[in-house]
Amino acid sequence: MAKQFDVVVIGAGPGGYIAAIRAAQLGMSVACVDAWSTAEGKPAPGGTCTNVGCIPSKALLQSSEHFEHANLHLAEHGVDVKGVSLNLDKLVGRKDVVVKQNNDGILYLFKKNKVNFFHGTASFGGKVDGGWSVNVAGANAEELVAKNVIIATGSSARALPGAEFDEEQILSNDGALRLPKVPKKLAVIGAGVIGLELGSVWRRLGAEVTILEGAPEFLSAVDRDVAKEALKAFTKQGLKINVGVKVGEIKKTAKQVTINYVDAAGAEHKLEADKLIVSIGRVPNTAGLGADTIGLKLDERGFVVVDDDCATSLPGIWAVGDVVRGPMLAHKAEEEGVAVAERLAGQQPHVNFDTVPWVIYTSPEIAWVGKTEQQLKTEGRAYRAGSFPFLANGRARALGDTTGFVKVLADAKTDEVLGVHFVGPVASELVAEAVAIMEFRGASEDIARICHAHPTLSEALKEAALAVDKRALNF
Ligand code: FAD
Ligand code: NAI
Repeated sequence: MAKQFDVVVIGAGPGGYIAAIRAAQLGMSVACVDAWSTAEGKPAPGGTCTNVGCIPSKALLQSSEHFEHANLHLAEHGVDVKGVSLNLDKLVGRKDVVVKQNNDGILYLFKKNKVNFFHGTASFGGKVDGGWSVNVAGANAEELVAKNVIIATGSSARALPGAEFDEEQILSNDGALRLPKVPKKLAVIGAGVIGLELGSVWRRLGAEVTILEGAPEFLSAVDRDVAKEALKAFTKQGLKINVGVKVGEIKKTAKQVTINYVDAAGAEHKLEADKLIVSIGRVPNTAGLGADTIGLKLDERGFVVVDDDCATSLPGIWAVGDVVRGPMLAHKAEEEGVAVAERLAGQQPHVNFDTVPWVIYTSPEIAWVGKTEQQLKTEGRAYRAGSFPFLANGRARALGDTTGFVKVLADAKTDEVLGVHFVGPVASELVAEAVAIMEFRGASEDIARICHAHPTLSEALKEAALAVDKRALNF
């Protein structure tokens, strides 16, 4: 017999599990269905983010950074470490432990909030009395019925035609997070977020990494000054980044992968590598959901079509996260999940896409919120810019990490902050202050007048805000 709920959430990634918890907090009876399994077939809620995305990549970035510090940087601090060696099994094993802690944490939160969790693959059965029918296939098949259904099925890595993922030699983010050996030569197609983060991990651990990027400019969505500074730093670290390339045929033998490509100048090359990571963007998970069965509107790329409130083309069906338009970021998915749950409870939430921060967790880290200088120029908006280098920041010097700068962009007339860009140490944390200022529609003068603790990296943001008015104190 069908089980009846107020809300059924399909997917327990950051969009889905957060929507489920918020709906339960608001007094609704909630079911959340998720298909992800551990190697042993146990439920592994948390989606891409927890299992093969945000969390494991950050664990590997941290461990590989420690390794690089022990090899290259501790001596500068007068700490002589001898005989540094890599235990890759332990390093990857630690990452798996961190992932499991997150899986278990979500199962605990479901229990605490009385969210009914179903492990299996969900698909729409149709419209029935009492709402929408959702069938769960798996060890315990079920039929669930709810007036409201939230689709949060996420996304998967996009493959290059003719080079399907085998996760042995041609790797998506999944295989790239669990290599059994550090490859001698690693090729990466796509110098986006995954290519740079995972390329950095394996370079730090000893691989020779070559990244092939199709776009003519490095990190074209990023502020040009930031992209330039980051490219300089990555190149110095040994990442070989080639932009404007056209990737051709990819051939596999038992031992290596050969990538034929034409460089920006038109010369033909053959890149030979032990492993290849393909990180050229992601596609929404809508196949098999039964969208056709119920007449749910998808766009030409397979994304669920939604309005600003995340309502789909069908009443009572909502969609959030990677499976809909907008940036594919965990925190964006979470904001949408909360907003839909609150809307179902009769509240009037909203998600501000203008203040969604971006972070690339490389070294230096790259983080930003709001508009880039090139966007403001294209829009013809009059603005003032102020920058401050970490080289002139006392805390950065004490840390021994002075690469990069902070840049504040403010409206020329009103001084409202329009964008803030960081490239440098711990940018991922520093960006939060800029987000808060922009969320409150603050001015650069507001940042400049806030007392910042000394010595901290956050003083670089204050100084960049002062620089908008040409009155930086320490530079
Ligand atoms: P997902 O997290 O993809 O979750 C969807 C869930 O739905 C999955 O568990 C899936 O199994 C399940 N599902 C799908 N179809 C069905 C079905 N029919 N029935 C039942 N269950 C189903 N974002 C950041 O903000 N910060 C980062 O640092 C970051 N790092 C990343 C690193 C990597 C390597 C990758 C690949 C991504 C990273 N992201 C990061 C992006 C982030 O992971 C996604 O934006 C986020 O996971 C999207 O959340 P979601 O809930 O929409 O979907
Ligand atoms: P991406 O969109 O960040 O980068 C893809 C890159 O591949 C682009 O630079 C693009 O120009 C290039 N490209 C596309 N087709 C190509 C081709 N045929 N040949 C050569 N280059 C090609 O996508 P990526 O890195 O796969 O990551 C997917 C998404 O996951 C990101 O957009 C982001 O939303 C999310 N993510 C977020 C992270 C974070 O927040 N720190 C970390 C990792 C992923």
